[in-house]
Formats: sequence, structure tokens, C-alpha cells
Amino acid sequence: MNILAELRARFTAALATLTDDPGPFAAMVRPAQDAKFGDFQANCAMPLAKQLGKPPRDVAQEIVAALKVADLCAPAEVAGPGFINLRLRDDWLQSTVNRTVGDGQLGVEPLAQPRRYVVDFSSPNVAKPMHVGHLRSTVIGDALVRILRALGHSVVSDNHIGDWGTQFGMIIYGYKHFLDAAAYKRAPVAELARLYRLVNTLSEYHEARNALPELEATLATRQKAVVDCESQADLDPKQKKKQLKKLRSDFTAAEDNLTSARKKIADVEGDPQLKTAADAHPNIARGARDETAKLHAGDEENLRLWNEFVPQCLAALEKIYQRLEIRFDLALGESHYQPQLATVVENLKSDGLATESDGALCVFVEGNKAPLIVRKTDGAFTYGTTDLATIAYRETELKADAILYVVDARQSEHFDLLFATARKWGYGDTEFKHVSFGTVMGEDGRPFKTRAGDSVGLESLLDEAVAAARRVVDENDDAKRDQHDQPAPELDEQARQAVAEVVGIGGIKYADLRHNRESDYIFSWDKMLAKNGDTATYMQYAYARICGIFRKGDVDRESLRDRTDAIRLTKPAERALALQLCRFPDALAAVAEDYRPNMLTQYLFETANVLSTFYEQCPVLKAEDEATRTSRLLLVDLTGRIIEHGLSLLGFPFPKQM
Ligand code: ARG
Repeated sequence: MNILAELRARFTAALATLTDDPGPFAAMVRPAQDAKFGDFQANCAMPLAKQLGKPPRDVAQEIVAALKVADLCAPAEVAGPGFINLRLRDDWLQSTVNRTVGDGQLGVEPLAQPRRYVVDFSSPNVAKPMHVGHLRSTVIGDALVRILRALGHSVVSDNHIGDWGTQFGMIIYGYKHFLDAAAYKRAPVAELARLYRLVNTLSEYHEARNALPELEATLATRQKAVVDCESQADLDPKQKKKQLKKLRSDFTAAEDNLTSARKKIADVEGDPQLKTAADAHPNIARGARDETAKLHAGDEENLRLWNEFVPQCLAALEKIYQRLEIRFDLALGESHYQPQLATVVENLKSDGLATESDGALCVFVEGNKAPLIVRKTDGAFTYGTTDLATIAYRETELKADAILYVVDARQSEHFDLLFATARKWGYGDTEFKHVSFGTVMGEDGRPFKTRAGDSVGLESLLDEAVAAARRVVDENDDAKRDQHDQPAPELDEQARQAVAEVVGIGGIKYADLRHNRESDYIFSWDKMLAKNGDTATYMQYAYARICGIFRKGDVDRESLRDRTDAIRLTKPAERALALQLCRFPDALAAVAEDYRPNMLTQYLFETANVLSTFYEQCPVLKAEDEATRTSRLLLVDLTGRIIEHGLSLLGFPFPKQM
């Protein structure tokens, strides 16, 4: 049972006697911050009192008088300026937790109105190395898919891979001019990645050289603006300070741009081979664009190459997905929608939505600065056109009620425009949601890079995580051997590596999921693998300790669960643990509310902490009598099931030993 939702529903009914719009006030029922105030608290009397022009305590009393919760709660109490405190009845909690023991769904009830979700996540651009941002999308998206399914929704996961973009022009250009045939034969994907990087480096070199005069001029202008402002005597000092701050930051930005351009130039000019290639290909960016255009126009040779490259790149991606234990229902990719793009644009035109602007075809939407370009001046369709065709497909073929896009926050403008356009286009009933996420930063405060430094290649990131985990596993296992004076460690080489794989990959996933997805966060290897704190390792240890209790007591968990109504809540720590366990459905619902997996990691972390307190205060195997022992074993078992299930919903594998 979803306790919080139930209480909010009861409040909605009670509040309806006082206001026409009870929803927002009912939403103010929350778990209590401090157990001494009860289990739940509602702060809605204060804002409602303001609206009604009555004293808040009186309003609180009125709400309490209308509130029908006697079956669930002890009588509600009004405290302080008008807080309403609720405490669940002990007998209710006890019977609820006992019922959960026999429930395969762990308290999660079927939904009255399940929805059809399409979750668009991971979505890397093939042939370009996947980076850490794609890892975030992959991990968050996968967790959301699993959690929405566990809640009873119908979910289609779709990897919207970028398999038709300009990177192919770059690779095809590279292939035609710079191919190392032997390397391609040996490791095709690595060679394609090299070609991509090479063409990109050379294009950027020419671009930087062309831009240099302007960048220098901009820097000079901005420097002058700072100097001028500094020497202005008649300006209000506060005003001046503000202006200077802005001008200096503009100056720094110009300086950064120039530095980055100079670096691009120096990198090529410092390498004779690169310099020769750059000189031989002065119009390389143009050449790459032409190759893309030819591909899109159906050029035979380029299509053949595309057909050769894509499967190899997909196979390389698949290797990463396997390691991460992630599967998709669909991976249609951008190329899938190409046949429909012309029709999409024609429809937009005939609906009067798309208009010509500077030779391009655009959809202007009120409230947005830029339009959504659906056909460029050169006739090429865009990322946005493809996304519109994708929406049409997901609506008509996949029957989506909601489409989630798990994509970097830097694309928010694109999605704002896209959703607004889609609504105008007739998809007003669908929920569109950009499940955006921030950037992963390194400990130096800059976007995260692997130790190798060059790119944030995913593969090497995973390897690094596993290697770091391996060091911890070795240390632990060696320590155990020394502690118990054993001749050999418990785990052999193979077992150690298997545990390291699980701990390393789990650690990366968890570190990502536990943060509020919208914030940038600083990634730290030490924190990721710390045994204490909100980490995967801590959760895995908590779980391993639970398993240890049953092993040590030689208790069969399965048959234990046949004991109905055996949990008895007598001590506060037992009650606190039972309450926490009964909140599991609430935690899943909280994730779905705004698509935030960290609501689940937070819940699991709290659960592990409540369990620790329980262990301190309530001996389990050495409980005072048989009935208490059984009751506590059942509580511990249920905690283990919830942690295991919760972590599996976050995409976690489990090591048998730690
Ligand atoms: N391929 C894009 C990128 O790597 C992300 C695609 C997200 N999905 C979408 N339907 N636009 O930036």
C-alpha cells in the first residue's frame, strides 16, 4: 500500500470542506523529519489559513475534525503554529508489515490507470566514441524503465541512436583519404574512431585559423571595454562594480576562445604529419559535409560504407550494454525515420506551421527565442525534423501516453522547442518530458575525464572502475585471510575479478543515480568505493550482512516466510524498521513523480541506516525468546528483499560474497 498517497487522498477529502482546490494543500503531507513528531506531518494549515483569513491553529483543528484516518492513524495532533502530526497505529503497521512478508510485490499495488511510456535513453551517436554523458543517460534511463515497470506501467525502451548524422560524412571522408587498411581490418571500430578524430582535428584546425583574426579583434575590443569602464569616474560605484564584473567575464570568455583556438592550431602545427595532412585538405569540413549530403541523397558508395560501418559500431556498443546489463526493446535510430522526413515537412507546411525564413524552413513558437529549423537552406533535414517524425511514430505505432527523453541538460532548448512544436502539431495529449541531467565533473572542477585523459571513452571508464574495485576487493580479502590466520584467501583470482566487476560497475551506476539528476556532480573514485556513506559498496555490505545472519543462524529464508503474522513490533527500533519497510511503495512513487531515481537510492540508504540502528538495539539470532527471534528474522529478511529488489530496480547486479 502507498501510505503517503493514501494519507494525501484522505487529506484531499477533508480539505474539500475548506477549499475548492485541495490538491496542492494535500500534497503538503510529508514523512515527518523527526520521529518525535510522529510518522507524517502536514504543514498545509498555515498557507490555507492565510488564504481563508483565519488563525492557522483553528484551520488545523478544522482539518483534523474533517479528517477520516482512524483506521490508519492514532488521533491527529495539532502542534506549534498549526502543524498536523500523524502517527500510524501500531496494530495497523504490524498487520501491514506482516502482509508485506507474503507479498511478492513487496507492498506495491496494481495501478488504477497504468500508462504507456516510451523512454528514449542512452542514444549515443554511433561511430563517435560514447562519452560519460551517454553513461548518465544510460544508467538513469535504465533505472526509470525498471521502476516504471515495477509500478505497473507499460514501458517501451528505445535507444534513439544517432546513426545518420554529420559524423558519418566525417568518417566517410576520413575513410576515403586517410584509411589505415591494416588497422581497419584488425580493429575496425577503433580505426573509425581514429578517422573521426583525425577529420575533426583537421576541420577544427582550419576553422580556428580562419577565426583567429576575429577572435583577436574581439579580445582587444573587450579589453578596451574593461579599461574604459575602469577609468570612468562619474559612474555610480555599485553600478560600476556590476558592469565591470560583466565586462571582465566577457573578456575572460574571449580569452578562453582565443586560447582554445590557438591550442587547436598549435596541436596540428606541432605535429609534422598532421600539418602535412591539414595543408593537403584545406576544405576538409566542406568535404565532410558533402559526403553527408551524398549519403542522405542515396549515393551508392556512401550507402555501402554506411552499411558496412553501422553494424560494427553497434556491435561495439552492444558490448558495453552487456557489461552494464542493459537491454532495449527498440533501437530504431535516426536512420529509421529518414523515409518520413519529407512528408513531415510537407505536413508542417500544409498545416501552416512551417514558414520560410532566410531560405530555411522553420517553425516559430511563441515564447521561444529561436525557431525549430526543420529544413536547412541546403535542403538537409535536421535533428529536430527527425525528432518530430519520431514523435509521430511513437504516438501512432507505439501508442505512447508519455515520452521521456533522458538527455543532457545542454539540450533543453531543443526539447522545449520540440515539445512546443509537437503540441501545435496535434500531439497535445501526450506528456513530453525532458528528463535532463547535469554534467559529471572531475575533482579538478572540470568535465570529467578518465585517467588516460584524452577522451572520456566509456569502455576505459568501466575498466578503471573495475580496476579500482579490484584493489579494494584484494585488500579486503587479504585482510580477512590475515585476520583469521588462514593459509590462503577466501576468493581465487577468478572470483576476485568477478566481484570487482560487479562492485566497480555497480559503484559507477550508483554514484550516478544517487545524485539529483539535474545537478552537476563531482566524481571521485574514493567516494564511489567508500564503505560508509551513500555508496553502492555500503548498500552491498548491508545486504551481505543480512545474508550473513541467515548463513550463521542456518535459517532457511524461504520457509521462514510461511509464518504468517509472526512479526511483532514491541521495541521502537522494530517499529521504525517496519515503518521504513512499509514505505517502499512510496519511494517508487516518489521516483515516478518527477522521474528521479535518487528518490529510491535515498530510500535504500535510509533503510540501511534504520537497519543499523535496529541491529544495535535488537539482537536477532540471540533474541530473548523464539517468537522474538522469528519476528526479527522476518524483519531482517524483508529488509534484505527490499534492498535487493530496490537495487535491482536501479540496475544492480549482486555479488554472492563481498
Ligand atoms: N544522439 C543524441 C546525442 O548524443 C541524443 C539523442 C536523444 N534523443 C532524442 N530523441 N533526441 O546528443
